[in-house]
Amino acid sequence: MKQKTDKIAVFASGNGSNFEAIVTAIEQGNLQVEVVLLVVDKPQCYAVERAKNHHIEVFAFQSKNYPSKEAYETEIADLLEQKDVKLIALAGYMRLIGSVLLSRFSKRILNIHPALLPAFPGLHAIEQAYNYGVKIFGITIHYVDAGMDTGEIVAQECFHVETSDSLEAIETRIHALEHKLYPIVIQQIINTL
Ligand code: GAR
Repeated sequence: MKQKTDKIAVFASGNGSNFEAIVTAIEQGNLQVEVVLLVVDKPQCYAVERAKNHHIEVFAFQSKNYPSKEAYETEIADLLEQKDVKLIALAGYMRLIGSVLLSRFSKRILNIHPALLPAFPGLHAIEQAYNYGVKIFGITIHYVDAGMDTGEIVAQECFHVETSDSLEAIETRIHALEHKLYPIVIQQIINTL
């Protein structure tokens, strides 16, 4: 009997390179899940193009068209439940998750962040760490709670940098690390659900 493939949704707001890395890992047989929906809060973002290229359905919304966060999150949560989504992977989704999604997908929402949390939460984390002068950079994958990059940590990886390393070179390494680690951790978490 064929085993049922668990379904996930990815949320993004921008470039979508982590979304692409997840889809590539699936296509290469390294991640046993199906991405049934990409959710974006910016209909023009590049992640949407990537979804089209992989024939993945997109739900694009603009918060200004809804009376509240509860209203758009209810629509999203209904859609995710209809599609039997087990896990949500935030991948550059630049919006706090609210009470509706948190309660309906309790402990089933992951986020990736390009710094060693709890250091450098929020926007432009790599630049923040670079400007601070840290010598160990890294990434964090964590469960999502109501705060900004504050949920329970699931995995972290790091590397040393030299003073001569440029911000661009460090960003490239960070993103490569993200693209490697996120599919692995998604598989580990989905196996526990
Ligand atoms: C990634 O570096 C991700 O870690 C970061 O946004 C980028 C999205 O890139 N997320 C955060 O900063 C969350 N606080 P992508 O759109 O190319 O995947």
